[in-house]
Formats: sequence, C-alpha cells, structure tokens
Amino acid sequence: MEKIAPQKAEKLVAVKGMNDILPGESARWEALESTVRSVMRSFAFENIRTPVVESTSLFVRGTGQSTDIVMKEMYSFDDRLNGEALTLRPENTPGVVRAAIEHNLTYDGGKRLYYMGPMFRHERPQRGRYRQFYQLGVEAIGFEGPEVDAEIILLAHALFKVLGLKNVRVELNSLGVTSERLAHRLALITYFEQFADLLDEDAKKRLHTNPLRILDTKNPVLKEIVRNAPMLIGFLGAESLARFDVVKTVLTACGVAWTVNPLLVRGLDYYSHTVFEFYTDELGSQGALIGGGRYDGLFELLGGKPTPAVGWGLGMERVLELLKTQGQVHAAHFPDAYAIVPNASALPVVLRCLQSLREQGVKVQMHASATPGVASMKSQFKKADASGAHFALIFGADEMAAGLITVKSLRDGVGEQATYPLSAVPHWAIKLQSRS
Ligand code: HAM
Repeated sequence: MEKIAPQKAEKLVAVKGMNDILPGESARWEALESTVRSVMRSFAFENIRTPVVESTSLFVRGTGQSTDIVMKEMYSFDDRLNGEALTLRPENTPGVVRAAIEHNLTYDGGKRLYYMGPMFRHERPQRGRYRQFYQLGVEAIGFEGPEVDAEIILLAHALFKVLGLKNVRVELNSLGVTSERLAHRLALITYFEQFADLLDEDAKKRLHTNPLRILDTKNPVLKEIVRNAPMLIGFLGAESLARFDVVKTVLTACGVAWTVNPLLVRGLDYYSHTVFEFYTDELGSQGALIGGGRYDGLFELLGGKPTPAVGWGLGMERVLELLKTQGQVHAAHFPDAYAIVPNASALPVVLRCLQSLREQGVKVQMHASATPGVASMKSQFKKADASGAHFALIFGADEMAAGLITVKSLRDGVGEQATYPLSAVPHWAIKLQSRS
C-alpha cells in the first residue's frame, strides 16, 4: 500500500517583540523579584494586582488621547462576544487608579502600592524595547506632600543600591499646575509658530495638540530650535517652586545626586509638579530605566474624587540587562541534593525520604527516567553532577537494608561521604541545606 507522507506542521514561533523567559534566565528574574519584594516591604508598600485587559477608554482618558501610546501603540480589539472595546494595558497607572476608585481604596487614608507584570506596546522592537515587557511600578495614592515624591525616588535609589547597579543618573523637572502649563503652552505655540517652515511632520502634528512633546524631539534641526524655546520651569509660581525645592532638598539630604532637566516632559498626559527619570548610558538608545511623576488630576479624570498621587514605572528587562552589562550575575537555582536511585523497588522509601527532606527545606531533585532504576550508577552520577547539586543521595541496596542513606559531596571536599539513618531526617537535613 502506498504510504502518504505526513505533512510537516508549520513551526510556530513567539509573536515579534514578545519574549520567552526560559529556565536559567528566569532565575535572574526571580532574584530581581525577590529583591523588589523585600525593598517594598522595607518602605511599607503593598502589592496590588489588576487585570492585563482593561476598557480602551481607560487609557484614552487616562494615558491621554494625544500620546504616542494611545495614538499608535495600543493593542486594542473588540470583544468578539459583546463588542466591548478592550486594550492590553500599555501601562498600569490608569488601571491602579481605576481599581482604587472602584474599591474606594483611600477611604481610610493614603495607600502605598506596587505591582510587577507585563505591559504591551506596539513599538519597533530593539534591544531593551519590546512589545510585551515587564514593569515594576509603584503608586503612592492619597498623598499630597512633595516629601512623598522624594520618598519614592529614594525607594528607587535604594532598590538600585541593593541590586548593586552603578552609574545611574536621576533627572528631575517640575510641570507645575494646569494654569502654569497653559500659560507655557501658549508661549510655546507662539515660539514654534515662528519656525513653522522648519518643523517636521511630528512637530507640526503636535504643535496644537501637545506642543510640550516637541521639547522631546530627536531631530537635530529641531533640537537647536528647542534650545531657545521658553521652558516651563520659567512659568512656575512660588508655590510650585517651593514644592520642587522640598523634593530636591530631601534628595540631597539623603545622598541622592540629581540634575534638573528642563526638557524632561514625559510622554504621558497626566503629570503635574514633579516628574523624573532614571537613566543609564550603558544600554544605548533605550537608557531610560525608570520614569514617573505626580499625577494629581488623574483620579478626577477617571471619575473619582480628587486624590493626589505620585508613582513611577521601571523596565525590568532593562534593569536585568544593565545588571548583566555590569557583571552582576545571580547564581542559578541549583538543588541542594540529587537523589540517585539504583533500584526501582526502592522508590517508595526514596520518595518518602525526599518528602521529609523537602519539608525540612532541602531542595532535592530525584533522578527520573522512563524506566526507573535502569540507568547505570555512572550515568546517574553524571546527571547529579550536571544538576549543580552539592550532594548526591545514594539509596543503594546495602544502605537501604540497614535503614541508612549515603550522602556524597559533589562540590567542596568532592568524594567525602557520610551515612545517616533514613528514619531521622530532621537531625541531619540541615547539613544539606542552601549551599548554592
Ligand atoms: P513610562 O515612562 O512609559 O511610564 O514607562 C516606564 C518604564 O518602562 C520606562 O522607563 C522603561 O524602562 C520601561 N519601558 C517602557 N516601554 C518599554 C518597552 N517597549 N520595552 C521595554 N521597557 C519599556 C509609565 O509607564 C508610567 N505608568 C510610570 C508611572 C507610574 N508614572 C506614575 N506612576
């Protein structure tokens, strides 16, 4: 009979700009996440988890209609079943504010919140810029004072210190209040209108929608024009300037170096007063590690009571990349011990013993193969070595008959061995623990 060759199925790959984080790499993520959690606890920030999918209007209203994010980068779609307009969150500040309003989170005072999770932006992928990326974010909601702006910058600084990151610059600016921004906006439009012929397409589009963003330009010709443009800081009144001074004074007192960058305007619409970014020069064009600021108007914009708030977002891929560039490599997660099982009939005793060891906090990996017990001792020892474990646990027939286990060192003092009674795990388990 003629055989029909099976058709080779097409290989599927991840969506462009969206990455798998594989074992090995994921150990570095877990180490970062656990450092984050401990620093957050030390600043009394609590975790919040909001959905990845939100109503599109949340970002149109919250992030801002004229921002790049809303105009060109959102993954938006209509729910096929009920036609609802939905979006994969491009950032999580509007989501946290929505949740805070919905659950009346600030009914008994301010809340200090943090989150870690994926965000989605349809940008051109390159090193440090992805379409799905992870952000760590903090949002301090219900706090009016500028000392909280300073405190969350200190939090970011403390996190970088614990991680061992070096050469990170902190840039600050103040966007004042709405009336100050409006006065500046008019002056800016008048100024740029003089150069109408020299404006590029982007700048022309922004001139009457979001002229502040022209200050962000990468175009060298425009950069020259921007240099002499009226700066927002010149339009700030005494109150706004005094607030900004508190932020700067606290940071200096706590040993955080900063510079004021009057061109720092941020790409999202909701900011007022303090804005800031943390940069590195070691990651090429994607050097912004953290961006944030105060967003006192956002609660009202999203239908809530007026609630002052301030926060920042950090690109986790960028921080991990910088850690690697600076030679900060976290140890992978190796097991403490690897169980060698020469005979399948020993499995029930072996698994009971491993269960007790794990209950005592020992990380154990068992040799596993399709036909247990068939793999030679030699090949099991090879696998034990390759696993990175410090000890091999040998459940040999002689030992088992005597109710014992042999523990052999695979690392320091290679070959040293000892026997322990199988029935008394709590007495010796500690000797195997956490050497990796
Ligand atoms: P953002 O400046 O848009 O702010 O993003 C914060 C950080 O996320 C950036 O500094 C960067 O490290 C990282 N990031 C942004 N886009 C990408 C990307 N495509 N690939 C990799 N990393 C990226 C916000 O999102 C605001 N929600 C921050 C905030 C919180 N403001 C107040 N509270």
